[in-house]
Amino acid sequence: MTTNSKINVGVFGASGYTGFETISLLRRHPSTNLVFATSESTAGGSLSDIYPVPWDIPLIAAADAPLSKVDVVFCCLPHGASMPAVIAARAAGVRVIDLSADFRLTQADIYQKWYGVAHESPALLDSAVYGLPELFRAQIAETDLLANPGCYPTSVLLALAPLLQAGLLDTTAPIIADSKSGVSGAGRKPSLKTHFVEANENLSPYNIGRSHRHVAEMAQVIDALGGDSERLIFSPHLVPINRGMLSTIYVTLAEDTAAAAIHGLYTEMYGREPLLHILPLGQLATMAHTQHTNRCAISVTSVSPRQLILCSSIDNLGKGAAGQAVQNFNVMFGLAETDGIQ
Ligand SMILES: NC(=O)c1ccc[n+]([C@@H]2O[C@H](COP(=O)([O-])OP(=O)(O)OC[C@H]3O[C@@H](n4cnc5c(N)ncnc54)[C@H](OP(=O)(O)O)[C@@H]3O)[C@@H](O)[C@H]2O)c1
Repeated sequence: MTTNSKINVGVFGASGYTGFETISLLRRHPSTNLVFATSESTAGGSLSDIYPVPWDIPLIAAADAPLSKVDVVFCCLPHGASMPAVIAARAAGVRVIDLSADFRLTQADIYQKWYGVAHESPALLDSAVYGLPELFRAQIAETDLLANPGCYPTSVLLALAPLLQAGLLDTTAPIIADSKSGVSGAGRKPSLKTHFVEANENLSPYNIGRSHRHVAEMAQVIDALGGDSERLIFSPHLVPINRGMLSTIYVTLAEDTAAAAIHGLYTEMYGREPLLHILPLGQLATMAHTQHTNRCAISVTSVSPRQLILCSSIDNLGKGAAGQAVQNFNVMFGLAETDGIQ
């Protein structure tokens, strides 16, 4: 079903922040042909009606999406709205990369608990693969339904994974993730929280402790990697910048360990990853390391022989959403992993 050996792609939710970012990346991708892009509010118009870009992409309603003409769709829709689009695409035999939370949790009852609605396709949940390529590359290559991770979980899980996999954490001590996100993390639809006067010159914690929905997603992976997710304390904050994300994570080790050994663990696990940058000891990851990129930057700081602070930086729309979605697309279709995103 390819056109001139290109992969035919559709994007649901092209008018939103992640959808627009996805399309911007796909336009530069050497192997894709964009077949359709959807918006409900601007169906019949084009992307340049909404964004200040000198190129035009026509927008259609999601119900009119020609699924028979594509190989894969990116679903950049709010949770709940994504579910029917994913179900329809899979029924049509189309591969799916879902940027929403609808297929990230493996159990339908846990999804209902956190998102307040019943899952419409528990059977499809079983086939979904969680899309962190640095951890689950082999499964991603095989899947037809890719659940692209949330932005906060991407930053926290990539930083914790080496310690979890090596079994180095004190499982009785808290894992404290203090995270900051730019306002685009809340999507394009305005709300009081993201209103300029509320957000500007302010720094607001929200859903702190264990009440943010991303706790469920992080817990699932922490447990799968051998940790104890009950120890996770998560404090997200809204920062008055457009895009960017930084998670500062405090952990306790089970045994005294030299900083160089911990740093060596990170460079060994991630040293060949094209989109992961482990900073040298003594440097700290900042938002500026990754803004407007599709990379993650991580620094490791030893506070005492058993206490570490990890700083993990991503762009919420890059490695936190669209960039990671295109990275997953590349893995799923056997392409060079950085095509279109580096
Ligand atoms: N923003 C981030 O940094 C980020 C990071 C990771 C994951 N995500 C996830 O990615 C998804 C999209 O986020 P976003 O920030 O791009 O949201 P957004 O800016 O609010 O965009 C949402 C898109 O979905 C469309 N839409 C809304 N309701 C719909 C419905 N019922 N049926 C069909 N289309 C509908 C909107 O179309 P119209 O408004 O044109 O009608 C728009 O194109 C969400 O699930 C979000 O949780 C976001």
